[in-house]
Amino acid sequence: GIELGKLLAQTGYITYDPGFVNTGSASSAIAYIDGDAGILRYRGYPIEQLAEKSTFVEVSYLLIYGELPTQAQLADFTEKIQRHTLLHEDLKAFFSGFPRDAHPMPVLSSAVSALSTFYQDSLDPFDEPNVELSTIRLLAKVPTLAAYAYKKSVGQPLLYPDNSLGLVENFLRMTFGFPAEPYEVDPDIAKALDLLFILHADHEQNCSTSTVRLVGSSEANLFASISAGINALFGPLHGGANAAVLDMLEGIKNDGGDVAKFVERVKNKEKGVKLMGFGHRVYKNYDPRAKIIKSTADEILGKLKGGDQLLDIAKKLEETALSDDYFVSRKLYPNVDFYTGLIYRALGFPTKFFTVLFALGRLPGWIAHWREMINDPATKIGRPRQIYTGHASRDYTPMSER
Ligand code: ACO
Repeated sequence: GIELGKLLAQTGYITYDPGFVNTGSASSAIAYIDGDAGILRYRGYPIEQLAEKSTFVEVSYLLIYGELPTQAQLADFTEKIQRHTLLHEDLKAFFSGFPRDAHPMPVLSSAVSALSTFYQDSLDPFDEPNVELSTIRLLAKVPTLAAYAYKKSVGQPLLYPDNSLGLVENFLRMTFGFPAEPYEVDPDIAKALDLLFILHADHEQNCSTSTVRLVGSSEANLFASISAGINALFGPLHGGANAAVLDMLEGIKNDGGDVAKFVERVKNKEKGVKLMGFGHRVYKNYDPRAKIIKSTADEILGKLKGGDQLLDIAKKLEETALSDDYFVSRKLYPNVDFYTGLIYRALGFPTKFFTVLFALGRLPGWIAHWREMINDPATKIGRPRQIYTGHASRDYTPMSER
């Protein structure tokens, strides 16, 4: 495929592939997807096994370094992350500069971009210790930045990290705790969030990961590349879908809970009306992540809230769509975002914050791809071609003749 591409380029032919539907932009050993069979593996390990047996920190190690860690490697990795959770005090000033009602995603991407200014000693993309330090800094500091984005949006004071806690527990405490007040981490909540982070940790060449690789291909540093990935994830067709699903479910509920009526609007292709959380570029079968999330949604929601009316609407919506030829013929199934919002809401997060949680989960995948890209001798600066459809050559018209 790569050789054919080169050959075609020499002949002057260009592959026209809007949305890169059939373009292999990289070779990668990180995640494997079989969209027809509904299979997802990280480094060869089935997502179902990792979801059941692993932890988010261990999965991060697996994605970035390629193998499951030994006990000593995991302890060292965990300790390094715990040591780097603090932010430079001046970086906190960022959070008072944004409007209070700012969406936390651009706040997060701006703060991650700013890491390039505060940690200038780890920016060289070709120096291995530099890349290693930036990797740890990101894994450790992005949860702190995300928690501060939340605190800012609700007008509450920022908390220092407590490095006796694990990554997820520390994040929960910095998000929902108060300074000088004890905060008991609910193990059910921590476990649920850890699971959701595992399920989001990588998904090969999706829009945000491709963005990270594209930006990195210009030899931009890791912080700059990840910040670009966060912005790509913000869009409602990508990570923003988890919040859009909840808005859609609320809308159906407020309209009397008539699922069939909403499905008709989708089928009539009313402007701006889609079945959010359905459909995927690669999966033409049930998204395996959605399957895991659906089976835990009942359990988690039951434990935390004693049921949820929106979950009933979501299930009814899924049932209606999956028995309707419109969706079946287009192979539209629930994707990872269909049930996650309901769980995030039950955990106490506001809708605006859902996509930030996706970013926290996807972070190790972005880092793994950036590192794979920078170490791949086949990497070239990303620079697609175009089919020019503008004017042919024409002469400049003086202002007086226009
Ligand atoms: N609701 C209704 N119809 C849909 C949906 C949907 N969610 N998704 C696709 N379709 C229809 C399209 O209208 C099109 O129909 P047509 O052939 O009559 O024109 C057909 O299915 C094919 O869809 P495309 O838009 O060509 O599919 P594409 O691969 O470009 O888009 C995408 C994939 C963006 C995920 C799309 O399915 C979508 O918009 N889904 C809703 C948003 C969403 O849930 N995004 C999260 C994706 S997963 C993630 O990023 C984590």
